[in-house]
Amino acid sequence: MKHLIAFAAVILSACASAPAGPTVDMPAFATLTGEPPIIIAHRGASGLYPEHTIKAYTAAIAQGADFIEPDLVMTKDGVLIARHDHYLSATTNVADHPEFADRKRVRATPLGDQDDWWTDDFTLAEIKTLKARQQFELRSMAYNDQLDIVTFDEVIDLVLASAAKGRPVGLHVEAKWPGYFSSVGLDMVDPILTALEKKGVKAAGVPVFIQCFEPPFLAALSEKSDLPTIQNMVGPPYAAMMGLDYKLEEMTTTTGVGAEKSMVVNKDGTVSDFVQRAHAMGLLVHVFTVRDDRPGEGFADSKAELRALINAGVDGIWVDYPETAVAVRGAR
Ligand code: G3P
Ligand code: CA
Repeated sequence: MKHLIAFAAVILSACASAPAGPTVDMPAFATLTGEPPIIIAHRGASGLYPEHTIKAYTAAIAQGADFIEPDLVMTKDGVLIARHDHYLSATTNVADHPEFADRKRVRATPLGDQDDWWTDDFTLAEIKTLKARQQFELRSMAYNDQLDIVTFDEVIDLVLASAAKGRPVGLHVEAKWPGYFSSVGLDMVDPILTALEKKGVKAAGVPVFIQCFEPPFLAALSEKSDLPTIQNMVGPPYAAMMGLDYKLEEMTTTTGVGAEKSMVVNKDGTVSDFVQRAHAMGLLVHVFTVRDDRPGEGFADSKAELRALINAGVDGIWVDYPETAVAVRGAR
């Protein structure tokens, strides 16, 4: 139950705007602490704006998210930037930059060969010449080619500024592909910890989770830090394809797990025993990802899905539309 008591205070503070619970002995929420689940803005308010941009993060903060989520990858010159993928074609206008045409190359990935532009073939200065794009067809393209790709430092600055204005919001930081980056001399552990320390994140009272799909990264980070860690888990078929096929009961050294929502609620709306088993181990359960425009199978809409997850006792939910999730949680 690593860091749990200290973190319960953080969650209490982050959710201070939630309505008071009923005056009975039963906690209002079936979370590990009995406190409301945290709402994690998945890549910012990514349903509304291009993901991992200041615009998306700022909207998420304004909508009441408890945490914003920067996924991190690295540039050639060792700078952490906020991107979900280490390829650039899906969420930037790199293909429209003729000066980078010869930078496109095929790489082998756990999901097969891919011909693309890769963050670690670009310096930060080059990345800063690109602009972000919305990658999902049915979402607004109105902000395409206007918003910058941002560094981890810039994301930290945003939450520090928000905390200084009296609106503390946490950082739910994911290291993406750290094993790959380490293999090319771009280890991510020290840059992440150094950035947080140099910026004074702890002193500012900004809560932080560090999450990853790769257990060795979290183990290495925990040797140097007492930050709470979330071991992400992926279901079939990707678990086997990506070499991430491990079991809940193997998660004995992290603060919690990041679970696919299908591990928690079944297609018929019934609940699995996943949360119960995790809580029995003292593990927090954060689940991904709820989207207003793509509710999970079996649910009429994202509100029904959010209610089912909250009823199941999850401790945190990644969402693309924070405003909806904050409202559903508040309705308890
Ligand atoms: O990190 C867990 C959550 O964000 C969902 O995964 O692939 O969108 O980063 P992903
Ligand atoms: Ca993520």
